[in-house]
Amino acid sequence: MTLLVVGASGYLGGEVCRQAVAAGERVVGTYHANPVELAGVEVRRLDVTDRAAVRALVAAVRPAAVVSTPYRYDDWAVTADGAARVACAAVEAGARLVHLSSDALHAGRPQPYADDDAPTPVFPYGAAKAAAETAVRAIDPGAALVRTSLIVGDERSRQIRLCLEALAGGVALFTDEVRCPVDVATWPLAVLELAQGDHAGLLNVAGPEAVSRADWGCWWSGGSGSTRPACGPPRAPASGLARPVEVRLDSSRAAGLLRTRLRGVSELLAP
Ligand SMILES: NC(=O)c1ccc[n+]([C@@H]2O[C@H](COP(=O)([O-])OP(=O)(O)OC[C@H]3O[C@@H](n4cnc5c(N)ncnc54)[C@H](OP(=O)(O)O)[C@@H]3O)[C@@H](O)[C@H]2O)c1
Repeated sequence: MTLLVVGASGYLGGEVCRQAVAAGERVVGTYHANPVELAGVEVRRLDVTDRAAVRALVAAVRPAAVVSTPYRYDDWAVTADGAARVACAAVEAGARLVHLSSDALHAGRPQPYADDDAPTPVFPYGAAKAAAETAVRAIDPGAALVRTSLIVGDERSRQIRLCLEALAGGVALFTDEVRCPVDVATWPLAVLELAQGDHAGLLNVAGPEAVSRADWGCWWSGGSGSTRPACGPPRAPASGLARPVEVRLDSSRAAGLLRTRLRGVSELLAP
């Protein structure tokens, strides 16, 4: 099938492209500000804030499926409105849509979040991801919406760069910020499965284990002594950070639905 990956120049979009090419798909990928070369991928420039351009590209590519990843942390027009434009164009072209969402739309609480839990955003990025979901679900009720957590792999991963920065003493990794990291080698396979399938609606696709950023950073870096990152105290309200604290995604439905077995922290860190 022809797969269109919007945001192929990004970390996750690029990984989805690589795995799709390896699986023998025809892949068209887009960039916006950062041109990228990906083996086997036809690369086009696209700005998702340009409605006409999004429609024209999707109509020209005629994909069987679209994986929609683009976002900019502090830009509503890209993260929320852009997602809606991609969804409209996918529907017009009759393409299957997989939209990437995030655990950041939850406020945080000790109990795990189920697939269908309504968003409770506490900061602008989370609010934009929540708005994107609402738009995509209204435009394309058949779309799959993938809520995910920290995606970890090599140093191209923002989360790994954060650990490296902590090792250098630049940032603290808080003991009470909990997430469900997932391996970048397995996660794109789940997205491709969804692109080929017919799951409609929200689905948590994250690692099976929850871990604090501090524990994750310590384990990832080898653990103790001089290699131990600057593990913070619990995050003080005075830190000024507005992002959610404890967010556990319950991905058991995805585990039952998908052939792909998502690898979490314990397998990632196993020798
Ligand atoms: N990485 C994670 O741990 C994580 C966790 C949870 C959810 N997610 C979600 O997964 C998705 C991808 O994340 P990522 O880490 O791969 O992000 P990323 O590496 O920052 O990539 C963002 C992508 O969006 C594109 N983009 C930005 N502005 C655009 C515009 N105006 N028009 C078209 N494309 C534009 C970028 O293109 P250029 O670089 O070429 O400008 C890039 O390809 C996001 O939706 C994010 O919310 C990621």
